[in-house]
Amino acid sequence: MSEERGFAPARAEPDGDREEVRMRGIGEGSAEIRLMRPGEEVACKAILRALPEWFGIEESLVGYVRALATLETWVAERGGAIVGFLAVKQHSPWAAEIEVMAVTPALRGRGHGRQLVECAERALRGRSVEFLQVKTLSPSRADAHYEQTRGFYERLGFRALEETNVWGEGNPCLVMVKYLPSPA
Ligand SMILES: CC(C)(COP(=O)(O)OP(=O)(O)OC[C@H]1O[C@@H](n2cnc3c(N)ncnc32)[C@H](O)[C@@H]1OP(=O)(O)O)[C@@H](O)C(=O)NCCC(=O)NCCS
Repeated sequence: MSEERGFAPARAEPDGDREEVRMRGIGEGSAEIRLMRPGEEVACKAILRALPEWFGIEESLVGYVRALATLETWVAERGGAIVGFLAVKQHSPWAAEIEVMAVTPALRGRGHGRQLVECAERALRGRSVEFLQVKTLSPSRADAHYEQTRGFYERLGFRALEETNVWGEGNPCLVMVKYLPSPA
């Protein structure tokens, strides 16, 4: 997640929410991961709209959607529908950033987020990018939903690098980073 988009207010975490995120089984199946085509921003916007706990500020949401066409955006397609997406910005020959990603709520916890990150990583490693960062809400501002987000990134190998105030004092930003080894 990237700068100045703001955050929705924290809400209480429903019982068992983390277990739901980890759930696998019903409807198991992988999605096809491919680059976004023109016009598919609409489907990505619908996914963000369905996640108000993360993307509840309309102005931020619109900013994300507007940026998608200018970024390297991957989508997860399943049964003919876009069920997730991930947008990457490359900052230098060695460093890139996940600007935003999301999976449709009904299909969270089924591996599509991992598929998207792994696909982006493969593409980045293929052109010798070594560091992938992501900015998210720091744990110093308690938020049960972003705690799940950090858990996901940690599971995929991202590590907390530092907290910054690039989003202002009310939204402490945690920079997480992952080293991408060159392909053998
Ligand atoms: C974060 C998000 C993109 C992850 O996608 P997902 O499809 O739900 O995640 P996956 O099922 O691929 O999970 C991948 C791994 O992370 C693990 N994981 C997910 N959430 C976790 C958590 N809170 N704590 C620990 N591990 C977690 C899963 O168990 C899984 O592990 P495994 O592959 O080793 O079995 C998705 O849940 C989402 O859209 N969340 C809301 C919006 C958001 O946070 N976006 C990112 C900020 S821009």
